[in-house]
Amino acid sequence: MSTGGMVKAIFFTLLTLGFFFVIWIKNPFAHKEVYEVPEEVAGIIWDPKAVSEGRELFIQTCSSCHSVRYDGLYLLSLEAKPEWKKILRTMGKPIFEEREGKLRIKGYYLPRDVYETVAFQDLENLKASFGKVPPDLSTIYLARGPGYLYQFIMDPQKVLPGTFMPKLFLPEYDKEAPEKVAKIVAYLRSVSEPPPSEKVKRTVMGAVTVGYFLLMGFVLWFYRRRLLERMGLH
Ligand code: HEC
Repeated sequence: MSTGGMVKAIFFTLLTLGFFFVIWIKNPFAHKEVYEVPEEVAGIIWDPKAVSEGRELFIQTCSSCHSVRYDGLYLLSLEAKPEWKKILRTMGKPIFEEREGKLRIKGYYLPRDVYETVAFQDLENLKASFGKVPPDLSTIYLARGPGYLYQFIMDPQKVLPGTFMPKLFLPEYDKEAPEKVAKIVAYLRSVSEPPPSEKVKRTVMGAVTVGYFLLMGFVLWFYRRRLLERMGLH
């Protein structure tokens, strides 16, 4: 390779590395976290053991207004109806859960349009009381991140002035309020993330794709002269 070629190769390699560094590692366009989780409860949010307690707390405190369709949780007013189970079984897709090595149905997933149709009246009632339908929280963790969720649930008015979402945990009266809120955030995190088996599958798929391109790149580079000759370009 000539010196010029070498300089060019180094230049383009650095350019490519620089590009991926900016996109993946130091992205100036990425959303900056302005809301923080206090250190005392930060560990809870990533603790897998906090998830099931967070789910129970969510059912008790939040499911009168919010659904989590990805986890098969729907408004309490719907769950109380005798025909609701049948609607879920006929229109929903089962969500499986592994417990003691056995798969069992944990709940049913309903696509958004189906849900908004079958739950129309209940959602309208909420809208009449709160000005808008409280959103489904299946992917809220991905959209807002842990800091925002923690601060918002602790004190909705402080984060979103004028919101109709009530303050449900009062640290003045309930010493465990910060932990409870962190457990709910842990639950919302667990719902928005793919299960471990799915994560492994995606990682393998990514590695295979990158490997394929590397291999193809190498093969093309190796046979470049012969290919160019065949095309009559060399
Ligand atoms: C009495 C009804 C009610 C209850 C109970 C309730 N919420 Fe809400 N929530 C709302 C409403 C209404 C909104 C829409 C707020 C808005 O956009 O102004 C909302 C919005 C939200 C949002 C979205 C905020 C955003 O930035 O878009 C999150 C997250 C949330 N609630 C979490 C919770 C959690 C967690 C609980 C249980 C601890 C809960 N809510 C209990 C009514 C409720």
